[in-house]
Amino acid sequence: MASTVVNPGLEGIVVGETVLSNVEGEAGRLTYRGYDIHDLAENASFEEVAHLLLFGQLPAHQELIDFNARLAARRALPSGLLAIMHAIPRDAWPMDVLRTGVSAVAHFVPHRPDGAHETSVDTAIDLIAKFPTIVAAWDRIRRGLEPIAPDPKLATAANFLYMRTGELPIPEAEKALDTYLVLLADHSYNASTFSARVTASTGADIYSAITSAVATLAGDLHGGAPSKVMTMLEEIGLPEKAEPYVRDLLDRHEKIMGMGHREYKIRDPRAQQLERMAKNLTEKSHTKWYLIARALEDASDKVLQEKKPGKRIYANVEFYTAPTLSSLGIPSDEFTCMFACGRIAGWSAHVLEQFAHNRLIRPQATYVGPEVHPYEPIAGRHAQTNGTANGHSAGTVSP
Ligand code: COA
Repeated sequence: MASTVVNPGLEGIVVGETVLSNVEGEAGRLTYRGYDIHDLAENASFEEVAHLLLFGQLPAHQELIDFNARLAARRALPSGLLAIMHAIPRDAWPMDVLRTGVSAVAHFVPHRPDGAHETSVDTAIDLIAKFPTIVAAWDRIRRGLEPIAPDPKLATAANFLYMRTGELPIPEAEKALDTYLVLLADHSYNASTFSARVTASTGADIYSAITSAVATLAGDLHGGAPSKVMTMLEEIGLPEKAEPYVRDLLDRHEKIMGMGHREYKIRDPRAQQLERMAKNLTEKSHTKWYLIARALEDASDKVLQEKKPGKRIYANVEFYTAPTLSSLGIPSDEFTCMFACGRIAGWSAHVLEQFAHNRLIRPQATYVGPEVHPYEPIAGRHAQTNGTANGHSAGTVSP
């Protein structure tokens, strides 16, 4: 039998083409449609970047006004969706609520006779507009407060901060969150985007594809890391305790959250921007989180080089996300939702791209189960499974 190379993590496997973003891992460079992420972070708003991803170019003045108006018109949530959210237990995890919310948005949008919804730039804008509203509404509902309606005069970042607190944010806070959303807006065929594209490749609509993406983002190896980074910073407590903490973690063969990346072989370019923001924000808010994070990154590098000589592991986008979002008053269990509020721009552009050049994504697996054998009537079977499934042992996570 011909031998087959099995690549469970798909490392180095090219499964498609995209014009949306390019991750150059060796160079540590990220571009959206040819624009360097550093230029976009320093100069463009999230709305300009969402326009770039959806329409192929940065908007001219009037185009941006029109695009902002389309977003503003779609931000409010249907009352039926808010009623669903009010019925969710208040201790529900915000990412679970966002996943349910995105899926539920579809119920309030007309569908075709075959049951599917339109997948178009208009439905993409609908989702880009509604993500922050869902996150902010849940933030209030779980605190026993009524959601605040979006303000049509405010852009995405300012609106989110306003809808959480009812207060207009200071310009530095708005700018920081806006830049964060720009940095997170797209990242080629990462796991959640790939998941969205797989769903879209079956012909399922954008609401289904984006629900898949939100579900895939939730795990620690992808968008779930920053709240775990915050937990580490809290456990460390003081910069000088970072090194013993890292040694202890690595002795227990645990990973340092917010460090390492499948694609980047040098520091994630987004980490540089986020570190700058985290430093500025924590200095202004007189919190210690940036200093602890900086000490943790240095200690990780030192200890990992001792333990794994020749192998460098750098901070990824999630690492300085934690002190940045924390300084904006966002609770750590909402960090992954904020990632989703940025990435929805890229996800929806990828779904449209998949629709435009579709081929069903359907890989193969090498079968390693039992040989073909006769069916056993139930009377002759003996209990053997001990509660485990599929022949795999229960209780371990396979990423
Ligand atoms: N802490 C400690 N060691 C790490 C590490 C981390 N954060 N990330 C990778 N490594 C080590 C692994 O232990 C492994 O060592 P080994 O070769 O001696 O076994 C090696 O580096 C390769 O790691 P692996 O997990 O196979 O690489 P990957 O390409 O699958 O990993 C991540 C990418 C992001 C999943 C991984 O770096 C990770 O789990 N990071 C922490 C979670 C995180 O930050 N997620 C957000 C990603 S944006």
